[in-house]
Amino acid sequence: MANIDNAAVPNGLVEGCVLAKKQWTEKLFSLEVAASIDEYVAGQFTKLGLLNSEGEWVRRAYSMVNHPKHLYGQNYLEFLIIADDNGQLSPKLNDLEVGDKLFVGKQPSGFMTLEEIPDYAKELWMLSTGTAIGPFLSILDDPSIAERFDNIVLVHAVRTESELVYSESIESAKTALGDKFHFVSIVSREVHATGLQGRIPELLLNGEIQNMTGVTLSVPDSFVYICGNPAMVKDTSAALGELGLTKHLRRKPGNFASENYW
Ligand SMILES: Cc1cc2nc3c(=O)[nH]c(=O)nc-3n(C[C@H](O)[C@H](O)[C@H](O)COP(=O)(O)OP(=O)(O)OC[C@H]3O[C@@H](n4cnc5c(N)ncnc54)[C@H](O)[C@@H]3O)c2cc1C
Ligand SMILES: NC(=O)c1ccc[n+]([C@@H]2O[C@H](COP(=O)([O-])OP(=O)(O)OC[C@H]3O[C@@H](n4cnc5c(N)ncnc54)[C@H](OP(=O)(O)O)[C@@H]3O)[C@@H](O)[C@H]2O)c1
Repeated sequence: MANIDNAAVPNGLVEGCVLAKKQWTEKLFSLEVAASIDEYVAGQFTKLGLLNSEGEWVRRAYSMVNHPKHLYGQNYLEFLIIADDNGQLSPKLNDLEVGDKLFVGKQPSGFMTLEEIPDYAKELWMLSTGTAIGPFLSILDDPSIAERFDNIVLVHAVRTESELVYSESIESAKTALGDKFHFVSIVSREVHATGLQGRIPELLLNGEIQNMTGVTLSVPDSFVYICGNPAMVKDTSAALGELGLTKHLRRKPGNFASENYW
């Protein structure tokens, strides 16, 4: 990466500093970053940016894992990131160390938030692959969900058990939400004793996820957020369609909405 000349920082980016880094696997890591960005709500994302060796800015979207009203305040941001060997930015983010500088989008965005969920929904389902569990952990920490929903289901599908991250946050959610909270882990490329094996769409269609949680998918009570791998989002949307749910649009309320990570 080229040296960062502050004068050349594009509009919309502010300087941030890496405060902590947790390496979950060789490729999967969390960065805690201090940066003075505008207010965000649980479920949103911002940009992280660095200069490449040609002196060009490379910016990509990353979701905040922590709730904006967490202990250290909303300018203390946590991101869960996987380094893609062929990618421009994510391997460079994996090279960052505590104290390093990076740039952060000042204006967070995204519609995968609690505000967008229609009032008729009584059961919240959050289906994620890989790092897309991040925005759902932020939502899980929102104090309003215990009152608002009868059941809250979090599904995290990964390739290997080593990628089942943030177990402490999931345990905290179990404590805070009690019987309302249901967590299902899915591993696709290893035998997995404590959760399910396979992929989300098939495990919804054959009812294994619903059996494990004891919660059914029904219209109009269920609202499903799907986030992560675009092929998973597409196949899961089709599966939910087969189960009788419809895509949610602001102009035509339904039962599921999604965010693609690439
Ligand atoms: C709303 C949103 C939120 C996100 N949140 C997160 C998050 O919290 N955590 C996270 O890890 N990721 C997140 N992402 C994904 C993230 O923004 C990046 O896309 C990801 O980190 C890869 O960036 P990169 O620069 O390393 O890879 P890129 O350089 O963008 O490349 C990505 C892949 O595409 C391939 N590719 C790139 N250009 C081409 C081309 N021209 N032709 C063929 N193949 C190409 C590369 O080989 C590589 O495999 C999010 C994305 C979105 C849209
Ligand atoms: N995880 C790694 O070890 C690793 C290492 C290097 C680079 N990367 C790259 O980083 C990016 C993200 O990787 P990731 O591992 O977080 O996410 P991922 O490749 O999207 O895998 C996460 C989970 O999504 C599943 N999945 C894939 N396609 C699906 C579909 N159509 N329907 C339902 N489920 C589907 C995968 O199952 P399957 O296992 O059956 O595909 C896996 O269980 C990818 O570009 C990947 O190539 C990942």
